[in-house]
Amino acid sequence: MRVVLLGPQGVGKGTQAQRLSAATGAPHISTGDLVRAEIKNGTALGATIRAYNDRGDLVPDDIIIAMAMPYLNNPKGWILDGFPRTIPQAQALDNALADARTAVDAAIVFEAPDDRLIERLSGRRQSKVTGKTYHIAFDPPPPDDPGPFLQRDDDQPDKIRQRLDLYHKETEPLKTYYGERGLLLTVEALDGIDAVAKKVIAVLQARFPHAAPSPSNSTP
Ligand code: AP5
Repeated sequence: MRVVLLGPQGVGKGTQAQRLSAATGAPHISTGDLVRAEIKNGTALGATIRAYNDRGDLVPDDIIIAMAMPYLNNPKGWILDGFPRTIPQAQALDNALADARTAVDAAIVFEAPDDRLIERLSGRRQSKVTGKTYHIAFDPPPPDDPGPFLQRDDDQPDKIRQRLDLYHKETEPLKTYYGERGLLLTVEALDGIDAVAKKVIAVLQARFPHAAPSPSNSTP
């Protein structure tokens, strides 16, 4: 299964990607995680992209495309979280897949109003040990995850607003891009995490009746 997850920052792409990956065995590829790992490892590339990430800006297309490409040939497919995020990135993805005689199977867009996203991002915490994402109110860490639980530098109100503006300007046009290709599946993401996960399974089952995961194995 080759699935692209679209939607504004904080809508739950990473949260649902973790679950879908556990249910399908397809790896969860987050370009945001790749960017943060590069910065944390202190590489030359990390130094170049740090300023973009710290400002809440998008990393330039050519850099992010080169970072994502090595992950696309996995025979288990993938769940792409945060890539593509611009039309040129979507075109580069399609071209690379066409060269490999494959294609995107579906693009799921998660929808929620901006005020709910600010609430979600402000309470987001990531376990330093397991890397898993939680929310202080909506999805508290389980007792077996010792933490510590860190807040991302870009989850501050001014940067959240900047990232959401960028989403509406640069990424939202991808809904038309995938819609025109008959690949867009829409999931309203206002409900809780489990309810949204069930909707994801439902849209995939409707689209791929013989291949989609069942609700019973959709939680990690
Ligand atoms: P990235 O890490 O992708 O950040 P983002 O786009 O800002 O998206 P988020 O991770 O914030 O949102 P999410 O939808 O995954 O939300 P989550 O599931 O965590 O990118 C970071 C940076 O890297 C970018 O700013 C850019 O600089 C660079 N970059 C990355 N990709 C790039 C690209 N392709 N091109 C250029 N630059 C790129 O959920 C949020 C919170 O809400 C969590 O706490 C969660 O527990 C909670 N939550 C989730 N679902 C629910 C629910 N249904 N109900 C209640 N709470 C919920």
